Order: sequence, then structure tokens, then C-alpha cells
Amino acid sequence: MTGTLAQQSSAVDPAVYREVMGHYPTGVAVVTGFDGDQPVGMVVGTFSAVSLDPPLVAFMPTERSRTYARLANSPTYCINVLAHDQLDLCRRMAVPRDDKFDGVDWTLSADGAPMLTDAVAHIHCMPQAAVPAGDHLIVLCDVRGMEVSRPVTPLLFFQGGYGGFSPRGMAAKGDADLIAAVRLADPARPHIERLAQQLECEAAVLVGLNEDELTTAMSSYGGCASMRERLGDRIPLMPPLGEAYIAGQSPEVVEHWLAKASSQEPEVLQRYRQRLDVVAARGAALAMIAPGGEAAYRELHEAMQEYSSGELTPARERAVRAVVARMSRFFATVDLTDEELYDVGSVVVPVHNPEGDISMVVRLTQLPRGVSGRTVKGWISRLKQAAGSIENELRGNGGAEQLHDYRAWYPSDFPM
Ligand SMILES: Cc1cc2nc3c(=O)[nH]c(=O)nc-3n(C[C@H](O)[C@H](O)[C@H](O)COP(=O)(O)O)c2cc1C
Repeated sequence: MTGTLAQQSSAVDPAVYREVMGHYPTGVAVVTGFDGDQPVGMVVGTFSAVSLDPPLVAFMPTERSRTYARLANSPTYCINVLAHDQLDLCRRMAVPRDDKFDGVDWTLSADGAPMLTDAVAHIHCMPQAAVPAGDHLIVLCDVRGMEVSRPVTPLLFFQGGYGGFSPRGMAAKGDADLIAAVRLADPARPHIERLAQQLECEAAVLVGLNEDELTTAMSSYGGCASMRERLGDRIPLMPPLGEAYIAGQSPEVVEHWLAKASSQEPEVLQRYRQRLDVVAARGAALAMIAPGGEAAYRELHEAMQEYSSGELTPARERAVRAVVARMSRFFATVDLTDEELYDVGSVVVPVHNPEGDISMVVRLTQLPRGVSGRTVKGWISRLKQAAGSIENELRGNGGAEQLHDYRAWYPSDFPM
């Protein structure tokens, strides 16, 4: 194979080469440097990691590239990994012009190369060799420093078009779906308002959006409760979150939920299953606030806000999952004793559709602290009563229509 880099005659039609390679997605990076005192840059889809020890990267300019001819004069480069929202910048840097940097935000790196503002990552390097390879060059570079500057999803190039990265379960739902969810919650309004006022807490309705998420479809505040979630915020269905919604679902749905637990150790899964049994028997899910719980709830709240933003990279999603998993200690099973005092984080009760399945839950949070077990039992039965009234309304005409609309968009390829 030695010396065959580009010498063989082509056995493949260039159109076929392009077509086949177009099925392999790439990231989009801009290689920047200086030609004298002029900043220069070019878009490359051929940026690649090469070696860890020593740290080397490479990109492959065409031998006809005018911009590379200028970059070849630069002692240092910055490789800027573009973010999903930098398509305009990408287009600007891909044109064969000398004024590409006009109006572009950049700063000077410590190594003396232009760093494009808001790029996902910056890789600071020095060219080491430019190896001819057919009609391109392989430019090998020593990495001198590197950092993730903005941990958002990158811009991707695929089959001649641009896109972003959107793993299953993180895709944001459209407005139409949210409207159907809000309409479904509509009959709950008077009950939710009454609960918030009488129990001096936050009362909310969460509706299932798909097999992976609930959304806040309505909330009301009483006592000192303050607004923490916005309408349309998404809550991931992953253990221990969503127990009240999951406990009454089919075995497939339960397994799908368990598969998202951050630990798949049999004992951990067994604990989650036992919890679901307790929730099903009690007809309500109860989470307590353990000592130090305030900070943990704040952390969970921040993680949920980040999740709702819909821009999570897989690394950030793993971090959010880790925060959710740490909440498990608040979901330990508690046998309420009438006289004992409790700090309750949340009480959640499912609302059954006329056919017996579940598409929403009602939830109390920001509840008064240090209350007796008797009081907590009272809250649970008040919440169950409200859920019962909402169930009655779903059977009635208005509710039935909203349920019909909701089912019209609910993804039907999932057994719910
Ligand atoms: C998504 C994308 C990826 C590209 N990848 C490369 C590449 O790997 N190598 C290359 O030489 N040009 C690549 N280009 C083309 C150059 O960015 C650009 O057209 C060129 O810098 C402008 O022409 P010039 O270099 O002759 O001035 C790419 C363009 C786009 C839009």
C-alpha cells in the first residue's frame, strides 16, 4: 500500500464518489490564520482528529484552494468548530473572497490566530506537514491548546445540506402538540386553582407529550408558592421522575422508562419497580425533601430548565440524567405515620381517561413544611378527589372532544 496515496487511476465515477461520500455526515469547521496582517479562513468538512500522543489533527484543502494558498503563509491556525446557529458564518467563510472577515466577530488567540466568536470549540495548532493526496493536501497540525468554548450542538453537513444534532427524545415538540396538551388540561383549571389556594402550594397538570416527556400544561400558585416552571416546560420521563404517570401504564411503557435509568444494576431497577408498585397501590407518588434537599431541588430545577431549552448536547444530557438520578434518594418509600412530621417535596396523582389509560397527572409542589403524616394523607386524598372530578369531566362532552384532539397527535407507534 505504500506510495499509493493518489497514484492509482480512478476506478470510480466522481459523481458516484460524491454521492456515496454525501451519505457520511461531517461537522463543519473553519480553519483560520493570518496572511501577513490579513485574517483568512476557510470552511472544511475534512477536519479530523489524527493522534492523541502526540496530539495531532488534520484537514484537507483542495490543491486549488486560493484561501489555503494564503493560509499556508500562517505560522499558526485556529480550528473553529461551528455551532448549529452559525450557518450564516459558515456560508460567509465558504465563498472564494478576500473580504470574508468583514463584519465577523473574532478575537486574537494567545498563539496569534483569529478565534471566531461563539464557535463550539477552538483548537490551536501549528502546521507540521502538508502531504499531497490526489487533488487535495493532507495538512497535519500539532495541537498546542484546545478548549470547548460553548457546549451547544454543532453544525452538521449531510447530503449537501446543513442540519443540527437531535437525538431521539430531545427533539422539541411543535406548538400544535402543546396546544393539544393545554386543551386536554382545560377541564382541570378550577380544581387546580382551588388546590393551590386551599393547600397554599403550587398545583399543576402535566400532560404526556410522547413516551419520553411530560409537559407543564397548567399551573396555579397559592400561599408563598412562586412561579418556577413555565407553561410548555418539558419534564423527562426517566427514573425516578414520572412515577405517577408510569405506574399505571403497560409493561412495555414501564420497561421503556426503566431502560432510561442511569444505572441498569438489577438492584437499582428492582427498587424502581418496587416504588412503582407502592405508587400504584397508594394511587399517588410522594417525594420527600431530605436534609440538604433544598440545594438538590434547586439543582434539579436548573437541570430541568436546561432540558427544556432543547439544545442539549449528549454530554449535557448525560449530566442532566445524573442530576435526576441523584434525586432518587428523595423518592424512598415512606410509610406515613399520623403524628410524625414530614417535609414533602411533591405529591402526584394520575388522572385516568374514560378507557382507563393515563395521559396526565396532577401535582402539588412548594407545599408547607414540617406537617404531620395526617395532613399529608389529607393532601393525597384532596388531590385524588380533584383527579376524580377531572376524570368525570373527561367523560363529559367538552373533555371527550379535547381527549380526541390530544389522541390525534399523540405518537401512535408507541403502545400507550
Ligand atoms: C460544508 C463545507 C465543507 C467544505 N470542506 C472543504 C474541505 O474539506 N476542503 C476544501 O478545500 N474546501 C472545502 N470547502 C470549500 C471551501 O470552504 C471554500 O469553498 C473555499 O475556501 C473558498 O474557495 P477558495 O479556497 O478557493 O478561496 C467546504 C465548503 C463547505 C460549505
